[in-house]
Amino acid sequence: MDRQKAKVIHFLESHGMGDNIAVDALLENFIEDMESGLRGETKSLLMIPTYMEIGKSVPIGEPIIVMDAGGTNFRVALVTFGGEREAQIDHFAKYPMPGTEKRIDKETFLNTVVDYMEPVLGKSNKVGFCFSFPTEILPDGDGRLIGFNKEIEVDGSAGMVVGESLNAVLESRGLERKRFILLNDTVAAMFSGIGSQPGKSHDSYIGLILGTGTNTCYIEEKKHIAKVAESDGYMAINMESGGYDGMCRGEYDKALDAATNNPGDHQYEKMVSGAYRGDLIYRTLRGAAGAGLFSPAFADFLAGLNTLSLKDAGDFLAHPFGDDLLASAAKASEDDRRTLYYIIDSNFERVARLMTVNIGGILLKTGKGQDPTRPVCIIAEGTVFHSSSEFRRKLDYHIKKEIEEKYGHYCEFVGFDDATLIGTAVAGLMN
Ligand code: BGC
Repeated sequence: MDRQKAKVIHFLESHGMGDNIAVDALLENFIEDMESGLRGETKSLLMIPTYMEIGKSVPIGEPIIVMDAGGTNFRVALVTFGGEREAQIDHFAKYPMPGTEKRIDKETFLNTVVDYMEPVLGKSNKVGFCFSFPTEILPDGDGRLIGFNKEIEVDGSAGMVVGESLNAVLESRGLERKRFILLNDTVAAMFSGIGSQPGKSHDSYIGLILGTGTNTCYIEEKKHIAKVAESDGYMAINMESGGYDGMCRGEYDKALDAATNNPGDHQYEKMVSGAYRGDLIYRTLRGAAGAGLFSPAFADFLAGLNTLSLKDAGDFLAHPFGDDLLASAAKASEDDRRTLYYIIDSNFERVARLMTVNIGGILLKTGKGQDPTRPVCIIAEGTVFHSSSEFRRKLDYHIKKEIEEKYGHYCEFVGFDDATLIGTAVAGLMN
């Protein structure tokens, strides 16, 4: 190994930021945390029951209003399925997610959402609402918000029953109430994929989001969900896996966490997802500059920035001789360019290994995918997952090496256009 790389590895490891993640050692704890959550003795994984039934057929020709509240955007559309299960998406509109630009109160949040709904209100009395925040789903399909995260600030919103609160606003405006079905984006992604691959048979399904935030859902046997008093059949479980707290954080993970709106919470999400990772890489680079790993000129350049976006880091990894922000700044020195590469690449490697713990944990816990002709289908969504071929290559490698070869579980990743909108419509119409 060249000396420069050895120095980077030494720096990262001595600050707890290395990519030397022992996947095997972490798997057992992750599975134990899943099991505790299913028993109702939550450690850090909430393991939220969704009450979503799987396997019914989608009503054809019935329109449903679909809303998608994510970490950045709020999307509204009307979705109708045709005879071949093809989705028609009409009246699509995209707005800013209320609470992202500035701190607001609950009333402003609810009124803004109803304003967004107005153009499609007359089109259906059912609303499938993909709500990508920790939310307890109620048996009637509505949901109680546990609390916003991903740096969204809405005062007084924790504990609100989302559909019921929106109905109160609709009524106060003299408008008709709607039937709201709330679901998480992981669940929507999973529903978009069930039965969608002709010529294939899947042993089970996982919904994975790696975008602004991260999370996974999967299908659990009801007899293993002790906190739900039903024993026959299967139910989708929203793990809220971004909340996992057993991933061995390093110095910069902890410093970043302390500066967020919800310190201590969603620790794994803050290590891997788009809302945080640019800043995490920035803090690591500043630390490396402090330790003398970069030239004084590059250290000055870093000091002059406030932070980085994950896109800045990903652009550099993909095109180290390009003309994006970091590549331009590192042009003058081969050493700076290589050090920068080693540090950013190591962050992507670390995320791929952490994600392998997350996915591998689900495969081992459920015992699914042991026949290579019937792998588990992982429907993956999110810009962070889909925008970096470097990351995907690493993830595929670790899943094969750590899970397939060691334990004999097979899985495959698929992604669809409009998976969230379509999955929300499917789930909303079927439940
Ligand atoms: C939320 C999850 C969501 C994930 C991906 C997390 O911050 O807590 O509910 O599924 O982001 O959007």
